[in-house]
Amino acid sequence: MLVLGIETSCDETGAAVVRADGEVLSDVVQSQVKLHAPYGGVVPELAARAHVQNIIPVLDGALAQAGVPLDQVDAIAVTNGPGLVGALLVGVQAAKAIALARGLPLVGVNHLVGHLLSAQITRAASPEPQVEYPFIALLVSGGHTALYEVRSPTDMAQLGQTRDDAAGEAFDKVAKLLGLGYPGGPRVDRLAAQGDPTRIKLPRPLRRPGSLEFSFSGLKTAVAQLVAAHGTYDSEQEIADLCAAFQGVVVESLIEKSLEACRVRAIPRLVITGGVAANKGLRAHAKLRCEASGVALTVPPFQSCTDNAAMIAYAGACKLSAGLADSLDLDVFSRSPILGATEGTKRYRSQRLPRS
Ligand code: KG4
Ligand code: ZN
Repeated sequence: MLVLGIETSCDETGAAVVRADGEVLSDVVQSQVKLHAPYGGVVPELAARAHVQNIIPVLDGALAQAGVPLDQVDAIAVTNGPGLVGALLVGVQAAKAIALARGLPLVGVNHLVGHLLSAQITRAASPEPQVEYPFIALLVSGGHTALYEVRSPTDMAQLGQTRDDAAGEAFDKVAKLLGLGYPGGPRVDRLAAQGDPTRIKLPRPLRRPGSLEFSFSGLKTAVAQLVAAHGTYDSEQEIADLCAAFQGVVVESLIEKSLEACRVRAIPRLVITGGVAANKGLRAHAKLRCEASGVALTVPPFQSCTDNAAMIAYAGACKLSAGLADSLDLDVFSRSPILGATEGTKRYRSQRLPRS
């Protein structure tokens, strides 16, 4: 089975052709980073308009790169939420049009589920084996920071999430405070490598034992107060030290809680995915701590961690294999049913994914 996947939930227009077993035949992503950079964040209306312009060339590119004509595609999978409604509608309308014109099955995919299965897709350049189920997944991006237990491709539950900012959002805001530009994560990461993480002390958020929730807004405020008290930083070394201190606290919190999730659920497998998984400090620290704890760590290649349509096509293939498909009434949603507030993480009141 060949699935054509479409992703337009935020600021990347993506299309990909993927086999049902997860082999990626093509994965095209048109980024809008430059378009939004002057505003320091994604502008929903501009994102939707850019998706309209990009969607057909990106779809054509994905089919051409795979060497698969449309009449060999067996199904269409599309992200229908969570995300920016105007942006999502572009992908969903394109998917419906193709499904209707070609008489193909259509399946809506939860963007977060795509991310959670991103370690299960295989690319020719990095043919890693799939991760055995169940596994714990840390999804850490600009929009989401949460821990999940992934029991099968169609059964997963949230264990805990951020109470306020996503980790990537905190990276971006701190970079903005330091005048480093947008998106800030990669810049903070680069500077942190040259800094001394011990010189500046920052508060460590939500260290309560047993809690699987995150919080990054207090940390961001602490950086803002430091910057306000200090005035403009002229010394590159001082900026690097601040980046190193901030990144150190974020990374420590992310890994601490991920390992706590592995421990309490007795699952010695951890997948880290989402844009922030590109962070070098996070990767290095996760590797060390997982080795010391006997936890098998998987961090998918960068193109699989950031927003892409290959993970959506694969998640769609898994739903179709489980007998799940959608009609042309498929609607978009801005917030995820598996992103609802987690009630007292100690009780692990997990919210199962609806099976349709
Ligand atoms: O998954 P993603 O591409 O988009 C969504 O948010 O859905 O993630 C983008 C986020 C941004 O906040 C960006 O600053 C952050 O990932 N990011 C990083 C790094 N590379 C990207 N954060 C820290 N270190 C990095 N190297
Ligand atoms: Zn995403």
